[in-house]
Amino acid sequence: MIKVEGLTKSFGPQKVLRELSLDVATGTITIVIGRSGGGKSVFLKHLIGLFRPDAGRIMVDGVDISRLRGRDLDEIRRTYGVVFQGGALFDSMSCFDNVAFPLREKVRTPPDELAKRVEAALAQVGLEGVGAKYPAEISGGMRKRVAIARALVTEPQIVFFDEPTTGLDPVLVNTIHHLILDLHRRFRFTAVVVSHEIPEIFEIADTVAMLHEGRIVEVGPPAAIQGSTNPVVQKFIKGEPDTGS
Ligand SMILES: Nc1ncnc2c1ncn2[C@@H]1O[C@H](COP(=O)(O)OP(=O)(O)O)[C@@H](O)[C@H]1O
Ligand SMILES: [Mg+2]
Repeated sequence: MIKVEGLTKSFGPQKVLRELSLDVATGTITIVIGRSGGGKSVFLKHLIGLFRPDAGRIMVDGVDISRLRGRDLDEIRRTYGVVFQGGALFDSMSCFDNVAFPLREKVRTPPDELAKRVEAALAQVGLEGVGAKYPAEISGGMRKRVAIARALVTEPQIVFFDEPTTGLDPVLVNTIHHLILDLHRRFRFTAVVVSHEIPEIFEIADTVAMLHEGRIVEVGPPAAIQGSTNPVVQKFIKGEPDTGS
């Protein structure tokens, strides 16, 4: 479904992505791991069309989205759901309005149908009846759930999660991972998840891709990544410092 080839991006003199390539198969969960500041969010922002590459291609269903502009890009992005790093809810809006936001923005939905879809999306993440509350009135774990409900309310074919569990305690981390897995089983979207929760995130992954020095240096099923003989991968998953081997 997604085929990234030779993706290259610099900010001024800083090379963040260096000919990065990665294939993401339809209906799978792909996890992107790598050191903080290594370019995972920058990579995700290219996939959702927020950044334009200096070089390379980002094929989504056979279309190079890095060449699209305006309405054509909007149309592709309508088929995406995004959970941004930190959740990024609108604090001035109720949970209901947060979840309704993409429906109001992307597709014209009659008010009664809109209410039904928002309530259904909240129920899917275990938050029945919290629509009237504001983000400040609910717990951190609930806010992550609202962010996930907002990403899924348009029934996207591809969902991007950028560190969806940041700041949660370990029990809640696993709850959110299993919520993602459960929703994935029900809706069969293609998921790309950036995560630093290692090894917990491996439990829900079909494929793990390790980003290092601007490239995907290793990709495979979780067991293969855990058994990798690549010292960069081993050090990272064991939580050892990068001594620049
Ligand atoms: N809009 C931007 N302008 C300039 N530099 C950026 C921008 N976004 C990210 N960077 C830089 O790119 C690098 C990778 O950042 P990021 O993708 O956020 O890392 P992470 O892997 O932690 O998500 C960092 O050095 C960051 O400062
Ligand atoms: Mg990031």
